[in-house]
Amino acid sequence: MLKRILTFSLFVMLVSLQSQAQDKTIQLIDPVTGADNPVRIACELRRSYRSFTEGEIRQDHLATLVWMACGENRPDEHKRTVPSARNAQEIELYVFTKDGVYKYIPGKHLLNLVTPGDHRAKISQQEFFAQAPIALVLVANYDKMKDFDAASRDFYAAVDCGYVSQNIYMFCAASDLYGTVACGAINRDAISTLLKIKNGKVMLAHPVGHVQH
Ligand SMILES: Cc1cc2nc3c(=O)[nH]c(=O)nc-3n(C[C@H](O)[C@H](O)[C@H](O)COP(=O)(O)O)c2cc1C
Repeated sequence: MLKRILTFSLFVMLVSLQSQAQDKTIQLIDPVTGADNPVRIACELRRSYRSFTEGEIRQDHLATLVWMACGENRPDEHKRTVPSARNAQEIELYVFTKDGVYKYIPGKHLLNLVTPGDHRAKISQQEFFAQAPIALVLVANYDKMKDFDAASRDFYAAVDCGYVSQNIYMFCAASDLYGTVACGAINRDAISTLLKIKNGKVMLAHPVGHVQH
């Protein structure tokens, strides 16, 4: 009797495994959105904004934004909110404001003035850069990637840049105030000249400003 039961159970298991293997699509249940998880809520709200309303960005919000973009979350190890290939940490962040262009220094969590003046309009022909109170420019510093060959350097710099860009989107989506858009159509030569980039590449720019939801 026991032998028969075992044989039958084995047969049922084999049939069920076979039918699972034959399924070409698996219809997933709806993702859990909203609820109480802020990351899930931010994913639900993330989108690109190309129109900004009046208003400066608050200093405490700017501090959180740049920290989320590429700040240190484990200062003891100098490790960051974003991963980077071989921990090269080559993506550097510049903040363009109406008063000047600043470079974010993650280890000290401060902004260093690079050049005074309003240079936001130089970033791109896209008109929304003039509307937004600030723009973030992401630059890959190739001096920090000396042990990468050229092809993998370009590849990993682009991948690493994507993480920073996504965290900027996440800050905006979680803020309920601000919006942004990742922009690749930017004036790379003009920005490189302004920032005196010698061995690196201007990757992306993000205007950040108030939006109406
Ligand atoms: C690498 C990259 C470059 C982009 N460049 C531009 C750009 O120059 N101008 C622009 O308006 N949008 C740009 N976008 C935004 C995309 O058009 C946008 O993400 C896409 O239409 C999907 O819309 P969503 O972000 O609202 O989901 C870029 C997005 C990425 C990821």
